[in-house]
Parts: sequence; C-alpha cells; structure tokens
Amino acid sequence: MTDVIRVDPDRPDAAAMARAAECLRRGGLVAFPTETVYGLGVHALDPVAVRRLFGAKGRPANDPLIVHVDSIDRIQDLVLRVPEAAVALAARFWPGPLTLVLPRSSRVPDEVTAGLNTVAVRVPAHPVARALLTAAGVPVAAPSANLFSRPSPTRASHVLDDLNGRIDLILDGGPTDVGVESTVLDLSSEVPTILRPGAISREMLQELLPRVERRSSAERALGSMPSPGMLERHYSPRAPLTLYEGAAREAVAQLIGDARAAIAAGARVGIMAADEDREALAGLVTELAGLDTRLTIAYLGSEGDLTTVASRLYAVVRELDSTGVDRILARGFPGEDGLATAIQDRLRRAAV
Ligand code: TXA
Ligand code: MG
Repeated sequence: MTDVIRVDPDRPDAAAMARAAECLRRGGLVAFPTETVYGLGVHALDPVAVRRLFGAKGRPANDPLIVHVDSIDRIQDLVLRVPEAAVALAARFWPGPLTLVLPRSSRVPDEVTAGLNTVAVRVPAHPVARALLTAAGVPVAAPSANLFSRPSPTRASHVLDDLNGRIDLILDGGPTDVGVESTVLDLSSEVPTILRPGAISREMLQELLPRVERRSSAERALGSMPSPGMLERHYSPRAPLTLYEGAAREAVAQLIGDARAAIAAGARVGIMAADEDREALAGLVTELAGLDTRLTIAYLGSEGDLTTVASRLYAVVRELDSTGVDRILARGFPGEDGLATAIQDRLRRAAV
C-alpha cells in the first residue's frame, strides 16, 4: 500500500516531513512535489534502494538519475570539483529548475549515474522538497514520479495513477508550478551544453556563461548522446499523438482537417488547443453536428501565456488519454524563448 499525506505546499508540517525523511533514510521510496514535476525520491547513497526505484518505475538501468540536495554546499561530496561556472549558476538559479551535470565522485553509486563518470545535481525550490531534503540529511536521487515513458506527474493523483502499491509514500502538496522538468545543463563538456530544455532558458544561462550549446535533435537522432537514457520517444500518452508544428494558422487548419477526417472514419479524437483556436474549433463542432460526441477539446491556455501552457501540459495529456480517445492531435507553440523550446521538446517526444 502507498500512503498519501497531504501537506501545505508553503508551510509543510514538520511531523509529516520527519516521517517521510525517516522513510527515505531507511531505503524507502517517497514521492514529493518539486516546482517542476513530482519526483520519486530515494536515498542516493543506498544502491539497493536505488535498484528498487528503477524496478518500481520500470525504468531502464541505463537512464541516470538527478541527485537533489538542499544547498550547493551539499554537492561537494558528490562531485570531483565544483567549477566556477557552477558556483555562479547556483548563486543565480538555485534553488530552482536547473540541473547541472558535473564530474562525479566515487561516493555516488553506479546505480545512480548509470555508470557514467558524471552526476546530475539540483537544488529544488519547492518548500516541501526543501523541507524534506533538510529533514532527510542525505542526498536524494529523484526521477520524475511516473511509470517509465508515461507523461511526468504534475499532481499527486498522477503519481497514484502510475505507482500506487509500488512506492511507500506520496507527499501531496497540490499541483506543481512550472509543469515541465528542469533544464539539464552539462558542465562536464568543453562547452556547456543544454541536454534538456526547461524553464531556465539558453538566454538566461548566456548571461553568466560565454558559450552555451543546445544539443540538436540531429545529434540526438545519431545517438551521440552523453546520457543513453535521454530517449527520443518519451512522455507518451497511450493514444498516439500527432503534433502540428509551424505557423499557428496553417497548423491549426491542418489539425482541424485531420480531425474531421478521423472522426468521419469513426475515430474518437482529442485535441490539445490554444485559447486562440476557440473560434476555429467552434466551427468544427458545429459542422460535426451529431458526431461531436467523438471529439474532446482541451485548452492549454493562450499562445501569449506559455507559463500556463507549460503548467497544464502533462495534466491535459493525461486527462485526454483517460477519456479513451483513439488519437490526440496537438497544436504546437512555436517560439524561441525558454518555455516555448521546452514545451515544443516535450510535445515532439510525446508524438509518434
Ligand atoms: O525537474 C526535474 O528535473 C525532475 C524533478 C523531480 O527534479 N526530475 C526529472 O528526473 O525530470 P528524470 O529522471 O525524469 O530526468 C532526468 C534527466 C534524464 O533525461 C537523464 O538522462 C538526465 O537527466 N541525466 C541524469 N544524470 C545525467 C548525467 N550524469 N549525464 C547526462 N544526463 C543525465
Ligand atoms: Mg522523467
């Protein structure tokens, strides 16, 4: 059985934190909210517990974990050295949604790093995560608290849907804020490289670093990736998802055409739309007349409010999936800023 404890996201109850911390220290699996998504925590220096975590998630052992600590001082034991760039980035962005990949110390078990000579570290900002890490007093390895290849959880109910009975405890601190996982920045390579885009954008990083590369999808496709677990297809709903990229007007017109054809052929279709698409979609609903029961539309928010779009993204994918649609058609959110890049990255990986 998995216990669920409700906690105040701003002022978590000390007794609840003490119980969760004790569970972690004894090798238990505890899901907790971070500002990005829910994490599934485990004592990072306990290889047996870490192996149990991989089993619970159904995650392949070659996909390394992020180690969470409550301050930069606590990473000293985990890494070979703390480069100047890391100190500067930590001062600006920690606690927060930035993960740094650094040369690792031998204290970190191979189970955590998938045998790589680097370790990913992060100081999360969520008050529950911070309180838990402080109470635990040990580094906590935590992947997103979903079953492998499912969308990341942004609410405790998502964790329960995927992992009930497979983990010990869930701290329910309500919905998470950012909604997409942290930016992963590799500082072990010659030029700092973004391995996964997130809320901390390339532009923000460039304010502190002279050069920041973004690993291209071409490189990913070639398989030349430092972390074998960064699979192209990920975050997937059960229903196949089609992404319509490019200029919004044309993309949405094409999406509507495909939805019309699929519904006429008997399929049940879910559409992930922006507020700006309401009029065009109202037209489709009218046109479908009696067949409109085969259509479910979910609005992510406005094109101009990507903070809301990101925070709702995974919940909407899960919601549509649970209605049993045969296909999901998603409009893209083109743009160059950090969240646009992150949203587009996750939608591409969810797409077939
Ligand atoms: O926001 C987040 O980062 C959330 C919360 C819970 O902190 N965690 C998260 O963990 O998304 P996970 O395991 O779902 O994703 C971790 C990513 C994976 O893509 C993994 O391959 C990469 O970080 N990673 C971990 N260690 C690495 C390393 N040593 N080198 C390169 N990539 C690494
Ligand atoms: Mg994950």
